[in-house]
Amino acid sequence: MSNSFWGERDQRLIWHPCTQMHDHESFPILPIKKARGIWLEDFEGHRYLDAISSWWVNIFGHAHPELNAALSTQAEQLAHIMLAGFSHQPIIELSAMLVDRAPKGLVRCFYADNGASAIEVALKMSMHAWRHQGMPGKNRFVALSNSYHGETLGALSVTDIPLFSATYAPLLTTPLRVPSPDCSHLPVDQWQQHSQASLLAVELLFQKRHTEIAAMIVEPLVQGAAGMRMYHPAYLSGLRSLCNQYQVHLIADEIAVGFGRTGTFFACEQASITPDFLCLSKALTAGYLPMSVVLTTDFIYQLFYGAYEQQKGFMHSHSYTGNALAAAVAVASLKLFDRDQVLCQNQQKSVWMQEMAENLLPKEQIRHLRRCGMILAFDWIPAPGQVWDPESRAGLALHRAALQHGILIRPIGHQVYIMPPYIITEEELEVLFRGISKAMHHAYPHLRVATSPPYTSTDDWDLA
Ligand SMILES: Cc1ncc(COP(=O)(O)O)c(C=O)c1O
Repeated sequence: MSNSFWGERDQRLIWHPCTQMHDHESFPILPIKKARGIWLEDFEGHRYLDAISSWWVNIFGHAHPELNAALSTQAEQLAHIMLAGFSHQPIIELSAMLVDRAPKGLVRCFYADNGASAIEVALKMSMHAWRHQGMPGKNRFVALSNSYHGETLGALSVTDIPLFSATYAPLLTTPLRVPSPDCSHLPVDQWQQHSQASLLAVELLFQKRHTEIAAMIVEPLVQGAAGMRMYHPAYLSGLRSLCNQYQVHLIADEIAVGFGRTGTFFACEQASITPDFLCLSKALTAGYLPMSVVLTTDFIYQLFYGAYEQQKGFMHSHSYTGNALAAAVAVASLKLFDRDQVLCQNQQKSVWMQEMAENLLPKEQIRHLRRCGMILAFDWIPAPGQVWDPESRAGLALHRAALQHGILIRPIGHQVYIMPPYIITEEELEVLFRGISKAMHHAYPHLRVATSPPYTSTDDWDLA
């Protein structure tokens, strides 16, 4: 573990995101010198297996030769040109590739530069589109409990994780909230029925208040930041029908789950639906540069189209919108999917993850083992019927113990998840699961336990 000059200097200068800096008095921030493939390396030569693709972005690992080449070639040509009034080859190519891959009917791409900004775009476009159709009263949003859509004020308004949103409540608008279809606590054969039953609350809400509702926003199939809470595609198909019936837009936030993470290229494919807005970011540029995009229909686009004096335009922009370097890497990353048959390879890797979790992790410390494509998660518990005393901060303890065993994981409270780069091999998966197992055994004796309360879907938000 690096305790070097670099670590101390960093802590004097940099205020790290989503971090209580005080935690790092006892455990210094870890400066990374370089990274290749799935491995990160610090300044003392210690290596760490990046089991969470650095916050779910590096789908092809680090320093991928094709992506590096695409970046440097593009840098020689054009690094950036503002996207207002100008265009360039990588953004045109990328848009065509996205539209080809997206659910049918999503044919217009609006770019931004991070996930939360894409959510802002979708929320604003939805409300604005209803206004254009003479329904300005449709200006509220419906969100699921446990939702996470980012941390700018609009995105935070539709987020339901108190750790992030509670303090800022006076600045936020209040969404209408419906229960999450979360099935994480159920056996897989009950997922469909449970997910479909959750639609009743949506239907009742839409019946009463559809005239006020612009859109419902969901994270398709997996609510990531709430601890990888998973549900059945039947919820999405049912929701699409309800949205059609009650004239409510459907915003699919695939920022975390897009680009193959759930087993299909987009999670919405598993429900055969087309949302009105599809928000993408994170893996879009495979962890190289920040970029996001909202795909929407030609119908929505046309509502904003008209002579300038009609004041119909969508007046939203970010300086780095459509950055050429980011677009070039995104194009190269999309090409890898076909060349390397990534989705097909991942099917086998997903099964290996399940088998290794069952065989290599301490069974008695695991509850609610769940999997969706290249996401595997479980609740880490001291023993059946017990939970960690929240003051022990089990997730943080496990994160630190795992680093000492050469593995980067970042549990969400006591919910441990693995979202490795797609290039991970069977041998590397074994190293990963053995490392986590050792870390669980290592951290276990230092933590206090309490008796398990009844299951709630908002168990523990303390982020490691
Ligand atoms: C589902 C979802 N939406 C939106 C965001 C926000 O993206 P960003 O961190 O790029 O703002 C995230 C980030 O984790 C996310 O998981």
